[in-house]
Amino acid sequence: MRQQLEEIKEKTKKVLEENFNSEELNDLKVKILGKKGELTTILKEMGKVSAEERPVIGQLANQVRDELQQVFAEKQQEIKNKELENKLKEETIDVTLPGREMKKGSIHPITKTIMEAEDIFIGLGFEIAEGPEIETDFYNFEALNLPKDHPARDMQDSFYITPEVLLRTHTSPVQIRSMIEKKSEIPLKIICPGKVYRRDDDATHSPMFHQIEGLVIDKNIRMSDLKGVLLTFAREMFGTEQKIRLRPSFFPFTEPSAEVDISCVMCGGKGCRVCKQTGWLEILGSGMVHPNVLRYGGYDPEEVSAFAFGMGVERIAMLKYGINDLRLFYENDVRFLSQF
Ligand code: DAH
Repeated sequence: MRQQLEEIKEKTKKVLEENFNSEELNDLKVKILGKKGELTTILKEMGKVSAEERPVIGQLANQVRDELQQVFAEKQQEIKNKELENKLKEETIDVTLPGREMKKGSIHPITKTIMEAEDIFIGLGFEIAEGPEIETDFYNFEALNLPKDHPARDMQDSFYITPEVLLRTHTSPVQIRSMIEKKSEIPLKIICPGKVYRRDDDATHSPMFHQIEGLVIDKNIRMSDLKGVLLTFAREMFGTEQKIRLRPSFFPFTEPSAEVDISCVMCGGKGCRVCKQTGWLEILGSGMVHPNVLRYGGYDPEEVSAFAFGMGVERIAMLKYGINDLRLFYENDVRFLSQF
């Protein structure tokens, strides 16, 4: 039996010197060390061994099993390493190949225009304010000097949710909200970009569009301050040669009111199709804030004065980027959007 054990040990070691893959190795291991394996079969004969020899043989058998298990483990590791090595050799990576390009998104022209306008106004000391898109009648109309049944309400055909709640028709309600939040302190200098909603839909109107509201309150604010700020804005946005023109107009929340034109960005003021031969393009409404509006916001019109303006972002973006149909902004056509 001693001899049998020595033999199986030597034989197995010898066989293991040959090449195997993991599967073959496993089969061999089962054949030798498994429950019905050769070693187990030999040990079944243990009963025939004399009582004195049994402990010695037993010890030897354990030794042989341990040793073989060790040899199999080493062999298995060796095979694993070899297999990995071969795999790595096959899967060579050419690090000089150019990488796959990731498709980059781009910023929407409306967002881009808003971001540029924000930069300009922040540079002039303005803060960015925000307000809700679902507004109450009070903030959207009443506090802006547009009482119920005021005929100017018709200029802004609205989406009502209830008789007192609507989608804001302009960003002007943020004027009132900012004043109340500021608790009558001066100076107050804000712009508010955001979405507004009106029941309009054609090549130059969309039921949802964007505005940027501006409001400045301080002691001795004058119309010339308004003009200076808007001229600076026009020149930073459209180029240093820009001129602006103020035309008398009417808004219930400003007195006096003015519509502001910039010299035509297409023809430089000579007259063309875009400016309808006038040389001017309207970009916003503005004026000196009406005393009633200041009172609604908690300011004393005897103490302070203010100017305000509201511009259409789509219009600015169309002029800046030479876009002739407003609906392009909302169609989500990548061929259009990827140009910005
Ligand atoms: N809210 C006006 C509109 O949507 C635009 C406007 C005009 C805003 C004059 C102002 C302003 O702040 O002073 O038509």
